[in-house]
Amino acid sequence: MTLILNRTDVMSVLEMNDCMNVVENAFGELANGTAVLPLRINISPPDGLSLYMPAYLKNMGALACKVVTIYKNNPAKYNMPTTIGKVLLQDPATGDVICIMDGGYLTAVRTGAASGVATKYLARKDSNQIAGIFGSGVQARMQLWAVTEARDISKAIVYDISDEATNKFISEMSEKLNIEIDKANTPDDVLQADIICTATSSATPIFNGSLVKEGTHINGIGSHTPNARELDTEIVKRSKFIGDSYEACFKEAGDIIIPVNSGEISESHFYAELGEIITGKKEGRTDDNEITVFKSNGLAIQDVATAKLIYDKALAAGIGVDIEI
Ligand SMILES: NC(=O)c1ccc[n+]([C@@H]2O[C@H](COP(=O)([O-])OP(=O)(O)OC[C@H]3O[C@@H](n4cnc5c(N)ncnc54)[C@H](O)[C@@H]3O)[C@@H](O)[C@H]2O)c1
Repeated sequence: MTLILNRTDVMSVLEMNDCMNVVENAFGELANGTAVLPLRINISPPDGLSLYMPAYLKNMGALACKVVTIYKNNPAKYNMPTTIGKVLLQDPATGDVICIMDGGYLTAVRTGAASGVATKYLARKDSNQIAGIFGSGVQARMQLWAVTEARDISKAIVYDISDEATNKFISEMSEKLNIEIDKANTPDDVLQADIICTATSSATPIFNGSLVKEGTHINGIGSHTPNARELDTEIVKRSKFIGDSYEACFKEAGDIIIPVNSGEISESHFYAELGEIITGKKEGRTDDNEITVFKSNGLAIQDVATAKLIYDKALAAGIGVDIEI
C-alpha cells in the first residue's frame, strides 16, 4: 500500500522546529559521509525549470526523490504557485514507494529550516534582534518563521517590489508569529536588520552590499542558476561564505560563481559547508563583527529528511489515504 498525503495533511503535521532538527541531522550526515546526494538533474521546458532530486540518509533510514518545478509565470498566468513539488518516499529495505506526498509546503518549510539551522550556528547570539526579509512570497514567509525559531527576534522589516505582496505578508505573518513587521520603503531600510533573508525571484543583486552593517548574518536562498544572483560582489567579498554544498554552489549559485569568474574573489573564498560547521569540523562565527553568509541552493537531503518526518508523524496521527497502486 502507498500512503497519499495532500498539502493539508502535510501542513497539519509539519512544524518548523521539528523540521529544523531533522534538517540539521541531514547536514550532519552529509558532512560525516553517511548521505548519498547526487547532484540534482535540471530540465528547462520553455516556461520554467524542472528539478529531479534524489537522496539517501543512512542513519535516518530515509530514501526519497522529489520532483519540483519553478515556473515564475504561474501566479499571473494560471493562479498557481511558482514552486510546486511532489515527493516519493521509499522504504530503504525494499525500495518500494511507501508514500507520495505534496512537496510544495514541504519545500518551503525545509528551505526555511536550512536557514533556521544556519542562523542558529552563524548569527550573533544577542537577544532582541531585527530580522530583515527581502521578498514576501511563499519562501519568504518560511524564512521569517525559521529565524524566529532560531533567535530572539523583536521585530521584522520586509521589502518586496510588489506592495500588494508585502501588505499580505505583513498581515499574515504578524498574526502567525505574533511579532511587529514593518514595511521597508527601499532595500536600504532592510539593512538595519541583524539577520537578513533574501527570498526573491530576482536574478540581479537586490541590495548594496557595502551598506550592510558589521555582525550581520545573511541567508541567501532565492537565486539558483550560474547567471543569477541576489547578493552583489561586495557583500560576498565582505563575508565569511558558507554554502549548503560546495558542489551545488559552484554549479548553481551565481552569487559566488559570478565574482569568482570575474576574478574578484578566488574559489577559496568559499569557507565551509553548513554540515562542516554543524559537526564542528570548521569554526562558525568567531566574533560579533563578522558578516556571515549562508547560501542555500536547496539539497535533496533536506527534502528526504523532511519527508520521513512527515510520514512518521502522519502514521502516528492516522492521517492520509492508503491506496494500492
Ligand atoms: N534555496 C532553496 O532551497 C529554494 C527553494 C525553493 C525556492 N527557492 C527560490 O526562492 C525564490 C522565491 O520563491 P517563492 O516561491 O517565494 O516565489 P514567489 O514568486 O512566491 O515570491 C518571490 C517574491 O520576490 C519578489 N521580488 C522579485 N524581485 C525582487 C526584488 N528585487 N526585491 C524584492 N522583492 C523582489 C516578488 O515580487 C515576489 O513577491 C525563487 O527564486 C525560488 O526559485 C529556493
